[in-house]
Amino acid sequence: MSNGLFISFEGIDGSGKSTQAKMLVETLRAEGFDVIHTREPGGSVGAEEIRALVLQGDPDRWSAETEIMLFTAARRDHMEKTILPAIEAGKIVVCDRFADSTRMYQGISRGDLRATVDTLHDLMIGREPDVTILIDMDPAAGLARAKSRNTVEERFEDFGVDLQQQMRDGFLALAAQYPNRIKTIDGARDIDSVAADITATIKDHL
Ligand code: ADP
Ligand code: TYD
Repeated sequence: MSNGLFISFEGIDGSGKSTQAKMLVETLRAEGFDVIHTREPGGSVGAEEIRALVLQGDPDRWSAETEIMLFTAARRDHMEKTILPAIEAGKIVVCDRFADSTRMYQGISRGDLRATVDTLHDLMIGREPDVTILIDMDPAAGLARAKSRNTVEERFEDFGVDLQQQMRDGFLALAAQYPNRIKTIDGARDIDSVAADITATIKDHL
């Protein structure tokens, strides 16, 4: 085993993952750690190309099953090219979303496909982060934050509050299922309070 650390951030759209991942990376770098900041879908050249395929264009372009394969293909490339080499070199990897997002978004949004997601994950990825920060918050508030960003990538935010509520419940159920890996942080507070909790949680793993 290498001594690197693989950290993922999860949560509904607008919960503050990107903001907090960036702050954690800055905090860890300031303390002298070698940190790779990455995201999904994306994080390698090939996976960034797949990101454009899944997050832009007609929202009905792909079936849920096709999407599972596209997100998993992107993740496989990201693992091979970015995440595993960094962990093997002893670095800390901070990743904005990982497989739990596929378990929630593709696994529950259009029928119950969770078993398919998990089967493909076992076959093609076969690894979880060492620690996952789940930023939990009310979906209506998260959605209002996400919408204020106004980017071309709106695909899943457009599913609306009901689906985001299901995602929130699903993420909390995952956290209950994997309490050693997934640490839930209350995201409905000011940015610095959330960041302080996250830093304290990660320090336990260093
Ligand atoms: P995510 O990556 O989870 O979708 P972001 O980090 O992009 O979320 O945050 C969404 C929006 O909300 C951004 O405009 C960000 O500046 C803002 N934001 C993030 N965290 C907070 C917070 N704790 N309080 C208020 N606004 C926040
Ligand atoms: P992201 O850029 O993290 O969006 P946000 O900052 O709004 O949280 O992710 C883009 C979208 O991709 C987001 O709506 C969630 C979705 N997604 C999936 O549906 N499945 C996945 O496996 C991943 C990683 C993301």
